[in-house]
Amino acid sequence: MEVFGAADAAAFRRAAEASIAYREGLGARPIGPAADYPAKLAALDAPLPERGMASDAVLEALVAAGAGGLMDMASPRFLGWVIGAAHPAGTAADMLVAGWSQVATMATPTPTASALEEISGRWLIELLRLPPECSFGLCTGATVANAVALAAARNEVLRRVGWDVEARGLFGAPEITVVVGAEVHSSVRVALRMLGLGDERVRIAAADDQGRMLPVALDAELRGVAGPAIVIAQAGNINSGALDPMAPIADLAAGAGAWLHVDGAFGLWANAHPELWDQAEGVERADSWAVDGHKWLQVPYDCGFVFVRDGAAHKRAMGHSAAYLPNSETLRDPGDYVPELSRRARGVPVWAVLKALGREGVLEVIGRCCRLARGMADRLGQQPGITVLNEVRLNQVALSFGPEGPEGDAMTRAVLQRVQAEGACYPSHGQWRGRQTIRLSVSGFATSEADADIAVAAILAAWEAVRAERDA
Ligand SMILES: Cc1ncc(COP(=O)(O)O)c(C=O)c1O
Repeated sequence: MEVFGAADAAAFRRAAEASIAYREGLGARPIGPAADYPAKLAALDAPLPERGMASDAVLEALVAAGAGGLMDMASPRFLGWVIGAAHPAGTAADMLVAGWSQVATMATPTPTASALEEISGRWLIELLRLPPECSFGLCTGATVANAVALAAARNEVLRRVGWDVEARGLFGAPEITVVVGAEVHSSVRVALRMLGLGDERVRIAAADDQGRMLPVALDAELRGVAGPAIVIAQAGNINSGALDPMAPIADLAAGAGAWLHVDGAFGLWANAHPELWDQAEGVERADSWAVDGHKWLQVPYDCGFVFVRDGAAHKRAMGHSAAYLPNSETLRDPGDYVPELSRRARGVPVWAVLKALGREGVLEVIGRCCRLARGMADRLGQQPGITVLNEVRLNQVALSFGPEGPEGDAMTRAVLQRVQAEGACYPSHGQWRGRQTIRLSVSGFATSEADADIAVAAILAAWEAVRAERDA
């Protein structure tokens, strides 16, 4: 069999061409999948092929399969789920990563991949203003980053009381007190389940009306705790964008001898921007942090970062060693900081995005997203019947339509359905403070004032239509 033939080269070119055509069409077509796509899915559902086909023919089939079935998440008017927009430099770098086909686990056999990861990690620590001594790992997203950090936390708080989890597991171990805020993200709960810490046995500190953990409630939950403890704070509530008050939380965690972890999937980026620093004040005092690359940093999916102040604890929890693995004595092996052994070279797209944007570019994107979110909230909130439920201090806007209660919830759902079906912009839904919401997450690198205007107009037109339907 040929290693790499003409059909393979044609397939590579087709992938690049189709990606370019796709990106060039962003913003000029409706954002969501075509309404008739499900019918096309039936044609895709073929039996396992007995015989293969050439790579270029596979690519043609794939390009055809994608037509009408894609969500334009890289569109400047995609406003759902805090998702970022996969910067072209990072996307192109990712294509090259696939072409290079590296297993980026060990520094010695894959020096480019591990060097670019190490440089990116250092740059990220500087940008996010985290303690320079932090270790870091590049993983699939904040869910895994939370799990990695909490594994290090669990093992270290038990090690301090003489229990070696790495060797003995949790059977017979002293109990760990875990405190989360009332609006903890579901991914933290998944991490707690994976780590044997239980999702339902955690203590819950009440939150304020923006979803921020109340220090007084944390204080009450930690009172009398003498043994191993972990406090999990949040930088960036998915509904309000609010950050927990980090300084008092850090004081309380330190007072209880607890490990403080911060789930900062998107909100930790506030600590990078001078205009937002006050919201994150004290966040650098934590012991570990989870943050995404594929949200505000615009790295293509999937990419998350975990940072741990105690690098030795991090490596004890995640490090790999086996007789057949070429571990380095002197270099940083990327696989020692995440659970995956075989892993793609995630550091390469991160490096590429940071090179493309630079510090200035990253800060400009973050600042612009927050400004646009505030502007949209102001304009929408002035309209009769539209309620902005959150204080818009970051990039999230939570909107409700109509009166509080089932009628308003139904109207909010109807507005969202119309906006999504029309496709000029694409917000997503939520439920918060007892109400159905439409959530605008402004996190794409290319979203402009003009995009915000189009989105506001689309939402107002849908609201007008829903009201007219009700009054008819
Ligand atoms: C606060 C918070 N934590 C964790 C996550 C999970 O991140 P990921 O989807 O990258 O795993 C999210 C995702 O939106 C989030 O907003």
